[in-house]
Amino acid sequence: MTTNRTFTMIKPDAVAEGNSGAIIQMIEEAGFRIVAVKKALLTKERAGQFYAVHSERPFYNDLCAYMSSGAIIPMILEKDNAVADFRKLIGATNPAQAEEGTIRKRFAKSIEANAIHGSDSDDNAKIEGDFFFAGIEQF
Ligand code: CMP
Repeated sequence: MTTNRTFTMIKPDAVAEGNSGAIIQMIEEAGFRIVAVKKALLTKERAGQFYAVHSERPFYNDLCAYMSSGAIIPMILEKDNAVADFRKLIGATNPAQAEEGTIRKRFAKSIEANAIHGSDSDDNAKIEGDFFFAGIEQF
C-alpha cells in the first residue's frame, strides 16, 4: 500500500484556460513529487466510471458531461501524508468556501468546474491512480 501517494487530475476548465502550469508549480512548491502524469480526454462513459461513487447524486450527469468536455491532466503524487496534505492544498470543493492560498480559491470557477480533484483516502488514491496509470511504469 502506497500510503504516501495521492491521485489528482487538473480538470477541463483549468486546462482549457492555460492554468495547468501554475497549478503544477503550486503542487511542486508544496513539496509533492510527480510520480506519473499525462494529458487525457475522458469519454462521458469513462468519466461516469471514475465518479461512479456519485452516481446517485443529482449532479452526476452534469459532472460526467463536464469532465468529458475537454482535456484533463491526471497525476500520481508523492509526499508524506500525501492525501490529507493535498486536500489542504486544493481547498474546499466549493470555491466559495476555499481558503486563501488554495488552488481552488485561485483557479476554481464553481462547485462543478472546481479546477482540480484530489483523492479522499489512501484506498481511493490507489484505485484512482490505477484507473489512469495501471501497467504504466512509475518513477
Ligand atoms: P471532486 O472533488 O472531483 O469530486 C466530485 C465532484 O463533483 C466535485 O469535485 C465537483 O467537481 C462535482 N460537484 C458538482 N456539484 C457538486 C456538489 N453539489 N457537491 C459536491 N461535488 C459536486
